[in-house]
Amino acid sequence: MASTSGAAQVLVASNRGPVSYQVRDDGSLHAKRGGGGLVSGLSAIGPDAGALWVCSALGDGDREAVRRGIGEDGVRMLDIPAEVHADAYNGIANSVLWFVHHMLYQTPLEPVFDAEFRRQWASYETYNRAFAEALAAEAAEGAAVIVQDYHLVLVPGMLRELRPDLRIGHFSHTPWAPPEYFRMLPDDIARAVLRGMLGADRLGFLTRRWADAFTACCEAFAGGVGDTRIGVHGLGADADFLRRRAHEADVEERMTALRAEIGEGRKAIVRVDRTELSKNIVRGLLAYRQLLADHPEWRERVAHVAFAYPSRQDLAVYRDYTAEVQRLAAEINDEYGTADWTPVVLHVKDDFARSLAAYRLADVALVNPIRDGMNLVAKEVPVVSDQGCALVLSREAGAHEELGEDAVTVNPYDIVGTADALHRALTMPLSERADRTKRLTAAATALPPAQWFLDQLTALTGQSGS
Ligand code: F6P
Repeated sequence: MASTSGAAQVLVASNRGPVSYQVRDDGSLHAKRGGGGLVSGLSAIGPDAGALWVCSALGDGDREAVRRGIGEDGVRMLDIPAEVHADAYNGIANSVLWFVHHMLYQTPLEPVFDAEFRRQWASYETYNRAFAEALAAEAAEGAAVIVQDYHLVLVPGMLRELRPDLRIGHFSHTPWAPPEYFRMLPDDIARAVLRGMLGADRLGFLTRRWADAFTACCEAFAGGVGDTRIGVHGLGADADFLRRRAHEADVEERMTALRAEIGEGRKAIVRVDRTELSKNIVRGLLAYRQLLADHPEWRERVAHVAFAYPSRQDLAVYRDYTAEVQRLAAEINDEYGTADWTPVVLHVKDDFARSLAAYRLADVALVNPIRDGMNLVAKEVPVVSDQGCALVLSREAGAHEELGEDAVTVNPYDIVGTADALHRALTMPLSERADRTKRLTAAATALPPAQWFLDQLTALTGQSGS
């Protein structure tokens, strides 16, 4: 892969990169490789394609790696000052743009766009500029650059000014807010966000709904989308990887342990999420409690296996949400638990092998986000499930556009409705469950990560004209 200045032909830019470093007790650095759609997507173009991934150093280990000149081929990590990164990532990206696109504000008291917000916005500009400058320095003449997500919305516009020769794309992994919500942002900030994005030749979204919302915002606040092309690429599950990984020995071990926790002969309602406000884990627990209240016949015959892995713990509202998930799970266990039945099996420590084990065992998967760009769990469970699994799916998840027909659809705010959906999913005949799982799997794997990435690249470099 390219590492010399100005040589890269294909560049991606994202806040979180494919590798992270930790300082060990003896002072040495330990590298950990991450997964996900972009990692497998980028591997599709092969080692000779001249690809470079530009990302930010996130923690002390990453910064130390940059300072010691340690890195991986094809990855350039930017040592952006920790305070600037914290303002940009925690302050603006995760506390403002994420909240706007997922419509998470409790509006009587928030948002408050005060002087502190303006100070953090200046850091967000600095952080975006650091990416634009690094990309401008690394890209070969006429190279293709695909910028990722809400962390970097200003980069396309900044990069266009520095390097008009480049083909610039941007891909949003989140929803996009409708104009009525987006207009909560101060007018100049709303325009800066849209103009930054419109610096790209082409913008990609996960579903038509989010693409249309973006277009509507541009029409309302930026005089339209101009020459920028807009496309939809619904990232799918990586079936080959998941099926292989889900049958390794560590997953089998976790299945044995999980079966013991669930208890012999009981059905499992499974959810696997980051502990993320938009994932709606608390209402999922309330719906499960409602199910046990409305349908006493399920008591001792079902367990809710809920994995809620730590995320964004620098933000107080995420720490509070994590505590509420744990409190409510304990309350349900106190209320309904018996000597040999734990109604909620909650795990909060990230363990990919255990997630796959739960996918394989699931009778019902509960995916009830308030709003979600796609939600890959909804796509992964049917692929991995051993005996077919009923999918209870929020109509506000991007995945609903592709999976809605074979899922049991829920309004994520409706606790009674979600409890009823869980009951219907639990009582779905096994043959129907298996048939639906086959169709869900086909839809979920229609656009695997490699093709998802190649399609964007082809469209950006003009070979398809879309
Ligand atoms: O687009 C949302 C996203 O950036 C995903 O790509 C990722 O799974 C998630 O948020 C995790 O975010 P963070 O990098 O903040 O942990």
